[in-house]
Amino acid sequence: MNKQKIQDENIIVCDFPLVEHNLSVIRNENSSSEIFRNATKRLAYLLLYTAYSNLPMKEVDIKTPICETKSRIIDPEADIIIAPILRAGLAFADVAADILPDATIRHIGMYRDEKTLQPVWYYNKTPVELDNPQNTYVYVLDPMLATGNSSIETINLFLKKGMKEENLTFVNLIASPQGIKNIRDRFKKIRIVTAHIDETLNEKGYIVPGLGDAGDRLFNTFN
Ligand code: URA
Repeated sequence: MNKQKIQDENIIVCDFPLVEHNLSVIRNENSSSEIFRNATKRLAYLLLYTAYSNLPMKEVDIKTPICETKSRIIDPEADIIIAPILRAGLAFADVAADILPDATIRHIGMYRDEKTLQPVWYYNKTPVELDNPQNTYVYVLDPMLATGNSSIETINLFLKKGMKEENLTFVNLIASPQGIKNIRDRFKKIRIVTAHIDETLNEKGYIVPGLGDAGDRLFNTFN
């Protein structure tokens, strides 16, 4: 699949040097879980600053030690939800909350059935209704966008609550062309922020070249 064809203005690939460097660290099979976690954390900061670039701003009056001036802050009326998909999404959650401390964190528990590659729900901490759907901004966190099936399930969950499609951002480390296409075939305006678009998926649904199982590598659970 041609990468040019699957990219549009709402698919943002952060391919600057620090991102590429840390990606090489986490791809390397010789990196320990500790090294993997630290490099993932650095990547999370770089990706999340980019992901949050769509937040609405409001002008305020402030006084510096020198004089009064106008300045801008993130609109306090906006409802901001960080939604990590368990368990690998936890790698991004602390960083996401660290740089946006007033956001609400809504965990999503889903695992991938190894045979069907379809998501299976086991935990959903999203609200039944959004208080302010037109002014809600959601950041779904999942390091690997592989088939896109669990992403689509999560996106649908939030869109059914009435929020705007363009206010939902999916943040990941590595995306597959198939996963991006799967999302784009259904949702034209969802933002995707990623560090890299890889070549393909293998028969088990793993991204190639990828980095293996992100959850196992983060949490050191190889047996
Ligand atoms: N989940 C992972 O952890 N790795 C992949 O390559 C695909 C899905």
